[in-house]
Amino acid sequence: MSVAICPGSFDPITLGHLNIIRRTAQIFDKVVVCIMFNSTKTTPMFSVEERVEMVRKVVERIPNVEVDTADGLLAEYAKRYEGAVLVKGLRAASDFEYEFQMNLINKKINPSLETMFLTASEKYTFLSSSVVREMARYGADLSDFVPCEIIDDVEKKAQLWRH
Ligand code: PNS
Repeated sequence: MSVAICPGSFDPITLGHLNIIRRTAQIFDKVVVCIMFNSTKTTPMFSVEERVEMVRKVVERIPNVEVDTADGLLAEYAKRYEGAVLVKGLRAASDFEYEFQMNLINKKINPSLETMFLTASEKYTFLSSSVVREMARYGADLSDFVPCEIIDDVEKKAQLWRH
């Protein structure tokens, strides 16, 4: 059985993430969406539990997608699934530089771990969780940015952050 791991902080999951997850689910037998900690980012807007709940709501109708969390190194986590491949989305050259470095670090820790990249769909190349957080804080319409199942969750959290 072919297994893909789609790792990320998903703070929150965006339509761009969902596009990559759907496309990965068409290529691999099983996809594990792994919600992780990114030490280069500031305090997350959503707790891990909230992010898990949101990702679950969004992927529940894709039968071969599971949601998991991990707080250690991604390359160590991937050892749980024999032959698993990391799948990540690439939006721009700037993503490539970061991902290229991550791939080298992951390979140092787990030499048999492969990473594959899917190019982001053109309509989502501008999109990131940080853009969503910023738009939400200013009360913007989020329907072009996050899956409809979680718009309320993001708006509610943004309201709390405004007060
Ligand atoms: O969605 P993001 O924030 O771009 O995802 C980045 C993530 C969470 C995949 C990355 O920070 C990560 O792999 N974190 C786990 C810790 C790790 O393995 N770091 C790489 C070695 S320094």
